[in-house]
Amino acid sequence: MTAVGIDAVEIWTGKLRLDLPGTFAPAEGEDPEKYTKGLGLETSSFPDAYEDIVTMGANAAKRLIDRKGLDPQEIGRIDVATESAFDNSKPVSTYIAGCLEQVYDDDFHHANKGERKFACLAGTQAIDDAYNWIRAGRNRGRAALVVATDTALYARGDPGEATQGAGAVAMLVTEDPSVVELSTEQGYGSADETDFLKPNQQFPSVDGKRSMQVYLARMREALTDFESVAWDAHPDDFAYTPFHTPFPGMVRKAGLLGYRHMIRDTEIEDALEGRIGRQPREEAHEDREAYEEAIRGYMDELKGTEEYRSWYGDVIGPTLDISRRVGNWYTGSVHLARMSALRHAADNDVDLAGRKLLVASYGSGAQAEIHAETVVDGWREEVEATNLDDQLARRYDLSYEEYEGVHDRHNHDMDVEMEEFTRPDGEFVFTGWGRMSERKYDYVE
Ligand code: CAA
Repeated sequence: MTAVGIDAVEIWTGKLRLDLPGTFAPAEGEDPEKYTKGLGLETSSFPDAYEDIVTMGANAAKRLIDRKGLDPQEIGRIDVATESAFDNSKPVSTYIAGCLEQVYDDDFHHANKGERKFACLAGTQAIDDAYNWIRAGRNRGRAALVVATDTALYARGDPGEATQGAGAVAMLVTEDPSVVELSTEQGYGSADETDFLKPNQQFPSVDGKRSMQVYLARMREALTDFESVAWDAHPDDFAYTPFHTPFPGMVRKAGLLGYRHMIRDTEIEDALEGRIGRQPREEAHEDREAYEEAIRGYMDELKGTEEYRSWYGDVIGPTLDISRRVGNWYTGSVHLARMSALRHAADNDVDLAGRKLLVASYGSGAQAEIHAETVVDGWREEVEATNLDDQLARRYDLSYEEYEGVHDRHNHDMDVEMEEFTRPDGEFVFTGWGRMSERKYDYVE
């Protein structure tokens, strides 16, 4: 069977940055260590006055198309994953294709375009759609362009304000990919949950603490489901495990849970027995409550072991580097985690081709999906071709007052003019509204 997977990735960050421990925490009267140590965040990205989900998505896509030397006719599908859409009918992919058609001679009239929605999970679902389309033989040799783009803003004063972010990840899905091959086995954990939602409103209604519990519960279900069709996962099976990362502290919790699950009945559990005992088994406890308390005690011990700390440092830590510097990009977040890991491997000269990743995606509302990917030859060149470090270094550093203005500027219920902080250079920009309230864009040389 021909390999199908991700052939190229390009990232576009919002051009502004907010220093969370240095600027946001003091202004909010909070301890900076809540950000650095608790949530695991340093800075978040925000869009400048002329940026939005379309410009960021189109700019990432253009970099990808140019770098791969593609003609629009070679792309048979454009799917956008977002939870920040501003139009309930016309998909964001049409706006992005419209932008791209301003700069290429050819057009995307024969590409199937759509928009995927399931909170932060939608980026992974759009990759699935592309995979299925290629596997079904309906792609006529063409590639699929998947763009995950979001401006993750919370209402001012909401605890989620600490975890905001903005940016886009463009991915090309093809046969014989150059980054990762996707596995056919997938695990799902899905339930009707009311933890984070946007019922026809821009900023989410969030039950933050509950959303974290739901994240962990659905991830656990998805891992069990994955194992039922794949194999019993072992910590040594994977070079990295990129998770959906609303903030790195969330992944710290998920990683510990995953590790405990994977070491059960293995030589690692045996080796730890003398120091922290065996994992509590539910049947040995009077009721669920007693069992859960025993599990919490075991996890506290497990967290401090050399085995766990070393695994976490090697397999999870490297996935969090980008997220720590840009915040939550919702649909793009798990794909940033993958890139973060691959960049770490490239920087440290790790021979990754043939190694596996366990990719754990999640969307509130709620659904987790877990699958394996195999890194393929070509990954290093692809990763090294991105210019994320330059983009991150060029971001304008906002003061707290400027941040307040930026939040208002991107609030759909406010009509706020704002001077731009950066100068567009060879990119798509938002220029205003047309006669039918459509958003308009131009390419700036
Ligand atoms: N030093 C060290 N650590 C500190 C600290 C300090 N001075 N102050 C606080 N902390 C720690 C806390 O102990 C806590 O860590 P633990 O959970 O491990 O105990 C962490 O920092 C955060 O502190 P709080 O819990 O006090 O923070 P908060 O009440 O302001 O809310 C939040 C945190 C609930 C995550 C909030 O930011 C939120 O609602 N975020 C949006 C929802 C979200 O991201 N949910 C994640 C799961 S849902 C999902 O993944 C989908 C999605 O993308 C939204």
